[in-house]
Amino acid sequence: MAKDTRNMSVRLSDEDFSFICEFVYQSTGIVLNDSKREMVYRRLTRIIRERKLNAFSDYCQLLRTQGDEEKDYFINAITTNLTSFFREQHHFDYLADEELPNLMANKRAEANGKKRLRIWSSASSTGEEPYSIAITALESMRSVLSAWDVKILATDIDSNVLATGKTGVYEYRRIENIEEDFKQKYFKRGCGQNENNVRVNKELSNLITFKQLNLLHEWPMAGPFDVIFCRNVIIYFDKPTQQELFTRYYDLLAPGGLLMLGHSENLGAYQQHFDNVGRTIFRKPL
Ligand SMILES: C[S@@+](CC[C@H](N)C(=O)[O-])C[C@H]1O[C@@H](n2cnc3c(N)ncnc32)[C@H](O)[C@@H]1O
Repeated sequence: MAKDTRNMSVRLSDEDFSFICEFVYQSTGIVLNDSKREMVYRRLTRIIRERKLNAFSDYCQLLRTQGDEEKDYFINAITTNLTSFFREQHHFDYLADEELPNLMANKRAEANGKKRLRIWSSASSTGEEPYSIAITALESMRSVLSAWDVKILATDIDSNVLATGKTGVYEYRRIENIEEDFKQKYFKRGCGQNENNVRVNKELSNLITFKQLNLLHEWPMAGPFDVIFCRNVIIYFDKPTQQELFTRYYDLLAPGGLLMLGHSENLGAYQQHFDNVGRTIFRKPL
């Protein structure tokens, strides 16, 4: 019979931990090791309480036998979604000061008469990254926007964070440190019960499409992308997975396109295929 596990401590055996690590690796590419055991324990304890299970082994069995819904729920619980508006500001400065002026000066119009800009935020978490990209694009391109077809694709494996991104509602404190002018232009403060929240405006959300995508699976997009943000996600993967992803990012970038990595990430052996043009900013050669 299921017990109330609220006040009991449940042991995570080596066998169950190994199963969880392998399951997460196969499903997401995320490598868990002993240093993550405590984190796994905390997050799994929450789930087994919710499921009113007695032991981690019962949950492992559930993962083995249940369908995608339980698997998605589990993956959402395991992913680390830390992000913020204008995180690693230097990437947005590079877009505003170098890349967008360069594209505005040199891009040719497509057959439909518009110039095309495509940016992919490939581990977008709750959306702060793609919205920061959208603000940067609007600030740089406003005067020429009618001549452009601008689209930002935001993808993540985690369906919960995507739902937040799609809604575009954030606690006010999350935008506290961004420029005052951006707060006024792009966010609307809630009232009454919602006064601690802000909602992104339509101008931003119209530029972005949020979609669930596991980076390990097939990518349905044709590209090419002018800029790809792949920040603070490959750090969770092993080297072979990273190198495979770099090849795929490279193939999806336009010649001259940019790949942005997170502050503690690098291209490793794949560096030879790109030019390093700034701090964790890499350009596919023309
Ligand atoms: C730490 S957040 C980074 C968010 C944002 N890029 C930034 O730098 O602020 C890492 C994100 O990667 C996502 N992620 C992890 N494994 C993934 C996979 N296999 N495919 C797609 N997204 C994944 C997680 O769900 C999480 O939202």
